[in-house]
Amino acid sequence: MPASQIGLRGQRFVRPVVDSRPSLFHKYLTAATRILANIVGTKGQLTMTKEPNARERWNRREILGVAGTGAAALAGGTALAAGTVTRHPAAAGAASTSLPGCLVDEGVQAPRTIESEPAAGAWIDLDRAALGANLAAVKEAAGGRPVMAVVKANAYGHGLVPTARTLVDAGADALMVVTVDEALAVRDAGMDVPLLNFGPFDAEAAEELVRRGVEQAIYTEEGIDGMAQAAQRVGEATAPIHVMMDTGLGRVGVPHTRAQEILVAADRNPHVRIAGTLTTFSEDPDFDREQFLRFETACEEATRAGIDLGVRHVASSAGVLDFPDAGLDMVRPGIMLYGQYPNERSRRDRPIELQPVLSLKAKVAYVKTLQPGQSVGYLRAYTAQSAEIVATLPIGHSEGFPPAAVPGGGHVWIHGRACPLVGEVTSNHVEARVPEDLEVRIGDTATLITAAAGDGGSDDAGNSPPNADVLGDWTGVSVYGLLMRLNPLLPRRLV
Ligand SMILES: Cc1ncc(COP(=O)(O)O)c(C=O)c1O
Repeated sequence: MPASQIGLRGQRFVRPVVDSRPSLFHKYLTAATRILANIVGTKGQLTMTKEPNARERWNRREILGVAGTGAAALAGGTALAAGTVTRHPAAAGAASTSLPGCLVDEGVQAPRTIESEPAAGAWIDLDRAALGANLAAVKEAAGGRPVMAVVKANAYGHGLVPTARTLVDAGADALMVVTVDEALAVRDAGMDVPLLNFGPFDAEAAEELVRRGVEQAIYTEEGIDGMAQAAQRVGEATAPIHVMMDTGLGRVGVPHTRAQEILVAADRNPHVRIAGTLTTFSEDPDFDREQFLRFETACEEATRAGIDLGVRHVASSAGVLDFPDAGLDMVRPGIMLYGQYPNERSRRDRPIELQPVLSLKAKVAYVKTLQPGQSVGYLRAYTAQSAEIVATLPIGHSEGFPPAAVPGGGHVWIHGRACPLVGEVTSNHVEARVPEDLEVRIGDTATLITAAAGDGGSDDAGNSPPNADVLGDWTGVSVYGLLMRLNPLLPRRLV
């Protein structure tokens, strides 16, 4: 008996609630935010006139979350005053492109896109042209086949809505996500392309998926029933599903040896429609061939039985490069759309025209001169040996900057020069030593990840701006891991 795929008794799926009435708390927060916006100087500092009590400290923390700059604070205040309040991060994500501010409810922030470089704080720049060019390059490598662009995990950290929209505008034929919330955020943002949710769902979510025309990956009888019942409840003729086969990765999917049972069950159920059939390779080139054979064998058997398998798709980025024969009806790349290779072997043996898309930047929050023996960081993480200038950057591990970058010998790039990281990465800060002949001020831009592959120049010492690969080398984290951990709340700017 296969384990149940759908969480029938799991956590309730919560539909986004949009509450248009500002609560007393909101009113208070709005007023306080406005006052603070006047106090907050252009350097993003705040002076308190008296020692705050615990409640004030808590409020100040929340308010400062909005008040990175005076402008942001006012924008946040406007959003609240207008009563544009939502209690659900996914809905907030969808609304983010139209919301002027980032604080949406009692301290819960929503992702947002910004038009111009902020005056303070950290942010992400997304190179729209690079995304489009990568899609075109991948499509060409896949022999012109349709592309299901994988935008799961917040579009690999790039920002789900702006990235998905750019890819759809550039010609992506379909999208894939791994959570119901991501799927609904894509729909809420107005994208009506074919959309596959590869991740889990529960009975309530199933209705929403059917209503919104989201295709659901299925690998158990319970999964089929769940989607079929949802279609009946919401009055749709059928629920679109993709049958996921496990051909050797051993993650999720009906074992290929039992695939016929699920395919037949889906085919016979009048309330579901097989929109696609898929598997995932383990990216071991030899074993991938064996997996492909297993997939093809199962597909042929089903086709002989008269089952329509819909769109067959198996090739992620590595598959597109390593295994062109496995392109089938559609390819399903992720990392290459973001300008990165799935592994070193592919980069070495089968390079295509890819351009990194994401830059991570931060405005210098503070600059100080340390005297010999003075230290920075908790437990005096770094002690200056001589007089040194140190810049503090407002980004830390909570924003997704990897702590291992400091012991790994990392640097950031300010005014075309490498500034070595010192001390430690704390939750919201990291420090960098500034060369003594370099003038750095509060508000100057530091680049922590550059998308400018190769053409960002190098300094006199031969250092170049850090790209995601280099940061990966310093930290021992894969490019996937680095990008996907970037905090969704970092503002994204399309450039
Ligand atoms: C089912 C599935 N398909 C496709 C992809 C895309 O993989 P890649 O980013 O290596 O192209 C992923 C990512 O992990 C995945 O889980």
